[in-house]
Amino acid sequence: ASVELGPYQHFMQKEIFEQPTAIANTIGNVEKIDFDIFGATHADWSEINQVLILACGTSYYSACVAKYWIEALAGVSTQVEIASEYRYRVSVPNPKALVVVVSQSGETADTLAALRHAKSLGHEKTLAICNVASSAMMRETMWKFQTNAGTEIGVASTKAFTTQLVGLYFLALTLAKLGKSPTPIHEKEHIDRLRHLPAALNAVLALEPQVIAWAQQFAKYHNALFLGRGMHYPIALEGALKLKEISYIHAEAYPAGELKHGPLALVDETMPVVTVAPNDDLLEKLKSNMQEVAARGGQLYVFADVDANIQASAGIHVIRMPENYGNLSPILHVVPLQLLAYHTALALGTDVDKPRNLAKSVTVE
Ligand code: G6P
Repeated sequence: ASVELGPYQHFMQKEIFEQPTAIANTIGNVEKIDFDIFGATHADWSEINQVLILACGTSYYSACVAKYWIEALAGVSTQVEIASEYRYRVSVPNPKALVVVVSQSGETADTLAALRHAKSLGHEKTLAICNVASSAMMRETMWKFQTNAGTEIGVASTKAFTTQLVGLYFLALTLAKLGKSPTPIHEKEHIDRLRHLPAALNAVLALEPQVIAWAQQFAKYHNALFLGRGMHYPIALEGALKLKEISYIHAEAYPAGELKHGPLALVDETMPVVTVAPNDDLLEKLKSNMQEVAARGGQLYVFADVDANIQASAGIHVIRMPENYGNLSPILHVVPLQLLAYHTALALGTDVDKPRNLAKSVTVE
């Protein structure tokens, strides 16, 4: 294993650091947005009036980010559902909907069953966003997008997640071609931002020493809260999932506006509050949410954009993200959360690549 790991201690760490390459490989040579990115044509998709995304685990959180992107960029109504819920409930089929399954393995039993269930209800427009070309989901969908993350070995998904986000961003830009976008799309700018992602990610990965210092403190906590707003709420969810999966620290995520409706009751000096703070339209609201935490003695750990103007002070720890990345910011903001979970687990001595009770791919119900 040491040959395969190179300078890294675990596959998870290696895979976190492979993300710039995995993303570059997933973007490939796409230079303009077209339906053929998914093997489709304009005619195939012209009637689409809704998107339904089905997934489990970390893949479900990438789908949740995509909902924000697709509605904001393409103006197409989007629903995201946990596959194991969708497959067993009575739902209203819409034959004009595009049903999307998102999966690293393409073999997750619940997601595959949800796809088959959707087809049995008359859904014919199906798309897989998947990391394994030969998988069942890639065979059983009409259209496909392969994420080129390469083999992912760590049970806690990292590079599969960020490459799914790239595929889903392509989907949002492609659906924008259906002419329902709320604001005009400047395609070239989006492509340029995508192409600059590997470099931007490398700058984020260079924050590792600062995250390690935080992880030393996190190893002493038993609970953690994660806050985000808008398209960074799913990133907060993913950060909490990563921490609980591999360090076994109980973690929950909330959209920051919900703080006052419950979780604020938990906040004291033993409850760290990790905050994803991009400089977006919700920043001022997020800052007032942070004040509510600080006023109750909570310890804030803030990943702030460089231009967010958030200063460290008593009870407020800040790591500055090198670049404000607009719509694609979730792809950058998730990376320090992956590193925080990894280094906290490392400090606690848990089995990072094979956490107890969990499997890489859940192929039985
Ligand atoms: C398992 C893995 C997770 C993964 C989930 C969905 O729970 O431990 O890392 O996110 O399955 O897997 P999929 O292959 O469908 O993305």
